[in-house]
Amino acid sequence: MLPGDDLKTTLHFGLFTNDNLIGVCSFFKNSNPNVPSTNQYQLRGMAILKTYQGQGFGKVILSHGEKFLGKKSIKIIWCNAREVAVPFYQNNNYMPIGNAFNIKDIGLHYVMYKIL
Ligand SMILES: CC(C)(COP(=O)(O)OP(=O)(O)OC[C@H]1O[C@@H](n2cnc3c(N)ncnc32)[C@H](O)[C@@H]1OP(=O)(O)O)[C@@H](O)C(=O)NCCC(=O)NCCS
Repeated sequence: MLPGDDLKTTLHFGLFTNDNLIGVCSFFKNSNPNVPSTNQYQLRGMAILKTYQGQGFGKVILSHGEKFLGKKSIKIIWCNAREVAVPFYQNNNYMPIGNAFNIKDIGLHYVMYKIL
């Protein structure tokens, strides 16, 4: 659960195999002043169930969300990427911007963004 989950501007996606939810990602209308362009959305809650990781499912759900937002004329998606997830976002053409920063109890993060 994240603040803003129920806003009309927020989008939630789920990836299912049969009736099992195996992956989620959400997009929030939220701007980061360090990221270029005004029409931004923030990606949050990007996760694939552990036993399904590393099989391309993260790419599937993320690219589905990106296409959906692109059709709504969103120009930029950005996220606070955990250090361990940086290669995943790079594989999906997200670029880091600025210095690493710490989020308490989670660890080092980088702001990463993608122009749609
Ligand atoms: C980060 C996360 C969402 C990525 O999802 P995923 O489904 O594992 O991602 P993908 O499978 O699309 O890509 C991940 C890796 O699998 C590889 N891969 C893609 N398709 C593959 C396949 N068919 N077979 C084997 N490996 C594959 C990719 O090359 C990639 O490798 P690399 O990033 O080590 O270079 C997932 O690992 C996760 O939920 N982690 C825990 C939560 C988390 O950290 N979320 C991010 C918070 S910022």
